[in-house]
Amino acid sequence: MSRIRIRMSRRSVLKGAAAAAAATSVPTGWAIAQSKPLKVGLMLPYSGTYAKLGENITYAVEMVIAEKGGKLGGREVQIIKLDDESKPELGPQNADRLVKRDQVDVVIGTVHSGVQMGIHKVVKESGTLTIIPNAGNGAVTRELCAPNVYRTSFTNWQPAYGMGLAAGKRGVKKGVWVTWDYAAGAESGEGFKQGLEKHGGQLVDILKLPFPQTNFQPLLAQIPGLGVDVVGAFFAGGGAVQFVKEYAAAGIKVPLCGSGFLTEGTLQAQGAAAEGIETALHYGDGLDNPKNAAFRKAFKEKAGRDVDVYAVQGYDAAQLLAVGLAAVKGNLDDEKNLHKALETAKIDSPRGPMSMSPQHNVVHNIYLRKVTGGENKVVGIAAEQLADPGTGCKMA
Ligand code: BEZ
Repeated sequence: MSRIRIRMSRRSVLKGAAAAAAATSVPTGWAIAQSKPLKVGLMLPYSGTYAKLGENITYAVEMVIAEKGGKLGGREVQIIKLDDESKPELGPQNADRLVKRDQVDVVIGTVHSGVQMGIHKVVKESGTLTIIPNAGNGAVTRELCAPNVYRTSFTNWQPAYGMGLAAGKRGVKKGVWVTWDYAAGAESGEGFKQGLEKHGGQLVDILKLPFPQTNFQPLLAQIPGLGVDVVGAFFAGGGAVQFVKEYAAAGIKVPLCGSGFLTEGTLQAQGAAAEGIETALHYGDGLDNPKNAAFRKAFKEKAGRDVDVYAVQGYDAAQLLAVGLAAVKGNLDDEKNLHKALETAKIDSPRGPMSMSPQHNVVHNIYLRKVTGGENKVVGIAAEQLADPGTGCKMA
């Protein structure tokens, strides 16, 4: 069912109800709609290598809703969770289930860039308000951007570009990127390459294996022969834990760095193998702002584990939704004011200053971090208030 058709039928229902209300003084259609719970579909991985990422996003979304007394824009919130298993091939049918069968008002999802493409196909057609709490695939805020789709996380390009800049600035001449063979890996590799090139460095190769495989040995065996000064990597979740451990165990002398996901939410499991690794990300340990301090404490109480970037992104996805719903008093049909509020939202994020780009992606600092004493300590800013280029985006 297209958004237009949904909108038309909703509008005719509202018109009919308004006419009936005038005649009988019963509540109007708008008032009836506002009294219905707001259905929020969480399409996230709750199994597989990205399961913990999906869980942390969920905890953080639930925190915001609880902070708002269980209501957004005056409407009770009903959460519907769907495990997308990080399987791109199931993306469209899972998104369809939420939008058509469960009739959610809003989708918050997902983590995996390939699955996001499936969600995007469905919500672009239906017009369902969608907030991306992690997946970084460039296309959805570049050439395929859509007025109803917002992202509170990053593009894959952003942190890797920051890492490339930092490495290049330090004099790295040759680097290699190691990653999973899907959009997140390729786009982060491109970001790292562009960052290195800014300072005269070069990327000699991208070594890859299929997602979510962890047979890293054949890739690691190639590294000593490449003559590179640095190895950069994109892995996340369970795969990142294993990669970092195997890299250390292989005794490779070339320093390892990466997009911050490589050591994010994984340090306890990686242990000593992660010490000294530099990464770049829009969050890190030791960020000194009141929102971050309060969030870290509250998240630990709720989840029984430490905050990571995924929790921050989930928190900000729900904060953004709360701003939009408040502006229209829960009436999602007031699209003009809804989008005005979302596009200009001032979010008090634990990550520090952030704003929405015209393409609905986040503009924020990319911090340089170094694993020290089991923490991703922020040691500088690799790129200040970095926006994705947003190439090819034309909002309809
Ligand atoms: C992605 O697929 O876009 C992604 C997954 C995990 C961490 C970061 C990015």
